[in-house]
Amino acid sequence: MRGWMVAGNWKMHNTQDEARTLSKYIVDNTVNIQGGEIVLAPPFTSLSVVYDVIKGSQVKLAAQNMYYEDKGAYTGEVSPAMLKDTGCSYVIIGHSERRKYFHETDEGVNLKTKKALSSGLMPIVCVGETLEEREKGITEYVVGIQVKKALNGIDGIADIVIAYEPVWAIGTGKNATPEEAEAVQKFIRGIVRDIYGSAADNLKILYGGSVTADNIGSLIEMEDIDGALVGGASLKGEGFVGIIKRVAEKR
Ligand code: PGA
Repeated sequence: MRGWMVAGNWKMHNTQDEARTLSKYIVDNTVNIQGGEIVLAPPFTSLSVVYDVIKGSQVKLAAQNMYYEDKGAYTGEVSPAMLKDTGCSYVIIGHSERRKYFHETDEGVNLKTKKALSSGLMPIVCVGETLEEREKGITEYVVGIQVKKALNGIDGIADIVIAYEPVWAIGTGKNATPEEAEAVQKFIRGIVRDIYGSAADNLKILYGGSVTADNIGSLIEMEDIDGALVGGASLKGEGFVGIIKRVAEKR
């Protein structure tokens, strides 16, 4: 059994005070939920604050990005050791907003994924097609390349999570239907199986894109959807806990 994961990507939201309040609500309201992983990804400036709140609980900490070097003259960047030092056990890599606004490439995603693994951070690697690519019928082609390039040269899949996030569904209020998401997630697992064999069965593949407490119930019933990477709806404690509860109930 691969279990489930619900990760909240706060993006560029929340001051330290807001981060403290939100993370405390999530810790307090998930005490009795079992069988999965609950992850919060605040901005860098709130990592330590959130870690102080969650340490000793089942909630874990993720960063939203990292650089693939250990140290040096890379103004504005943050290293894996710095993230571990602030209590992170996960790091989101290759989010579509990083790819779109900060020109991250599949090659960069691969370097970061390798570096996260060798540093003892679990990468949550994001892939997904744009609306234009979906309409052209090249979703599998695009996502296939993203997955293969991200995993290029990586020996094992045991410490990786993949998040399928169709770009057209992120922050738009228009989530993929369970069937649309499942088709791509099954395809992703198939690619991973071709490379890593039966280890693919233990890989967690999350869906992301306008997930809410109202739509997660039918998404999580799909065989290859093992949880969610949640943006907007992770900023409200009640809604985020609602998502976690529905996932935990159905998995
Ligand atoms: P959203 O974002 O839930 O606001 O669509 C998801 C994500 O970008 O991870």
